[in-house]
Amino acid sequence: MSDHNQVKITKMSYDKDRPKAKNPVQVMDLTFRDGHQSLFATRGRTEDMIPVAERMDEIGFWAIETWGGATFDTMHRFLNEDPWERLRTLKRYIKKTPFSMLLRAQNLVGYRNYADDLAKAFVERSAENGMDIFRTFDALNDYRNFETVVPAIKEAGMHFQGCICYTMTEPRLGGDVYNLEYFVNKAKDLETMGADSICIKDMAGILAPYDAYSIIKILKKEVKPPIHLHSHFTSGMAPMTHLKAIEAGVDIVDTCMSPYAYRTSHPAVEPLVMALLGTGRDTGFDIKALAEINEILEKEIIPKYRHLLAENKMSVIDINVLLHQTPGGMLSNLINQLKEMDALDRIDEVYKELPKVRKDLGQIPLVTPTSQIVGIQTVNNVLFDDENERYKMITGQVKDLCYGLYGKTAVPINPEVQKKALKGYHRGEEPITCRPAEVLEPELPQAKKDVEGLAQDLDDTILYAIYPVTGKKFLKWKYGKEEPPEEVKAKTLEEALAEQELIAKAKAGKLVEKKKDAPEKSENSRSFNVFVDDEYFEVGVEEIGGAPVISYAQPIAPPVQPVQAAPAPVKPASAPAKAAAPAAVADVDGTPIKAPMPGMIVSYEKKVGDSISEGETIVVLEAMKMENALPSPVSGTVKAINFKSGDSVAKNDVLCVIG
Ligand code: CO
Repeated sequence: MSDHNQVKITKMSYDKDRPKAKNPVQVMDLTFRDGHQSLFATRGRTEDMIPVAERMDEIGFWAIETWGGATFDTMHRFLNEDPWERLRTLKRYIKKTPFSMLLRAQNLVGYRNYADDLAKAFVERSAENGMDIFRTFDALNDYRNFETVVPAIKEAGMHFQGCICYTMTEPRLGGDVYNLEYFVNKAKDLETMGADSICIKDMAGILAPYDAYSIIKILKKEVKPPIHLHSHFTSGMAPMTHLKAIEAGVDIVDTCMSPYAYRTSHPAVEPLVMALLGTGRDTGFDIKALAEINEILEKEIIPKYRHLLAENKMSVIDINVLLHQTPGGMLSNLINQLKEMDALDRIDEVYKELPKVRKDLGQIPLVTPTSQIVGIQTVNNVLFDDENERYKMITGQVKDLCYGLYGKTAVPINPEVQKKALKGYHRGEEPITCRPAEVLEPELPQAKKDVEGLAQDLDDTILYAIYPVTGKKFLKWKYGKEEPPEEVKAKTLEEALAEQELIAKAKAGKLVEKKKDAPEKSENSRSFNVFVDDEYFEVGVEEIGGAPVISYAQPIAPPVQPVQAAPAPVKPASAPAKAAAPAAVADVDGTPIKAPMPGMIVSYEKKVGDSISEGETIVVLEAMKMENALPSPVSGTVKAINFKSGDSVAKNDVLCVIG
């Protein structure tokens, strides 16, 4: 250990006599983005960041990550929140500390490469709305995908952080593809592109401490920009990896406030502050100020999100990540997908198939969106292939990848798979070798036309352009053209605590199970909050044979109650919209096309009455964020179409009928 790490143990306290470090480790906080993205499915609401925002601004973080990654998607889709508004709101509370976002380069904050005009506009609007640091990565580490966004970042006068996605094919750093030389070359490429800092992005938490030491040591020697380390805790190695990286001279590391740390998230900041206290790399952070923020998060915020935390496991680490070198998020996606398809028992086959698919697809890094692309294709292969045919159901995204639309893969794609994927592919059967966005037509003019009269500004249009289906839905909620559904509304702390109390009671056997032969709830039923001594219940009340007569109600939140009680059957709970659809099919003769998996309808490629030939795409179904083009098994005429764009469908729902 070198001299600067020696601590003087004499009487030093947290604040008094604490020497100022010569080379303090800089820290970026991820609580507001990767923290809740990793632990709570990105469901963190802006209103739950505000209570600690000003205190966070006082800590001295190098930056606070507030945006990007999956936030843009989940906010408008699940939280009925305008993603742009979050930036502007948080900026009012966090005035000193720069904001950082995760930008998927030409994929922006979506899952495919977008056209240059959209990419440029997105960066400009992000900067204008308050973004300072653009942490930019490409899933294939193909920096041609940086060529549009980087000049836009620079023109806006903002910080360009270039990422190298860390991945391996062996249990440790090395091998033919992802070795030390690979990372040095990538860092040099980024330096040449004008990177203001360089980030090693270890999304899977597979960077081992001594490998981190080797990489950081050599990067500090070979390139000038500051080196930043982003390492997920998933496998349990990250705190050790941090320490070795710090010894090797890393400039910046990523952490979360402790309630948002560990599991698939990141190391917590507090142990790091204490570990470095009084050393030459002391962060200088006030541990008591951090503790105060934790107290607020624990008591006032986390109860609202607890139910999202997977708690069926004792262990907070996932050793599968060590065994399979794949991101934890990807593994949990695979498990969810298998569950939805009643095939969880085939997980071992999926683990076996995964490295084969990855190799076929050019040994690509596994990070959004490539982790999903490889993951879903793997599941498709396990479920639909047979001994006579491999890659029976190829997703739209794998076709795009084979065409070259995501960029250049680390090693060439298996030519057989590529040929099969590109058979009849709409852009052409011959793959491209140029920068992918060069083959994309500008997207904004069409997007503007599509949402004319609905979008009020460029931010709205960009949201729609990136997420046409859910974006349009959101804009209708935003401008009062459609009522947002119950499930996108925020939960109060009181509601969350009451819910937990009821769950605890149910677990303790103190709640009486409702009788099986209970009558069906009618639209006259009303909900009441009932308080018995200090106990709280939400109770549905309905008078038999008529409109409800209210004899007693605890007046909780009076402005909300009348709205919920309105008898208009806007959305009767007992009859979901889609249950009506299959009925329409019953009398149509022909071959039904069933949903092979649960998902959302993206589009129908044909109308009722159109003729279709065998193998032609009839409907595009989005499942697990991947688009699956479903081919017609027969030639004929489209007799019935049972859903529309944006509808959710269950496995085996009849999507359409060919006769
Ligand atoms: Co991350």
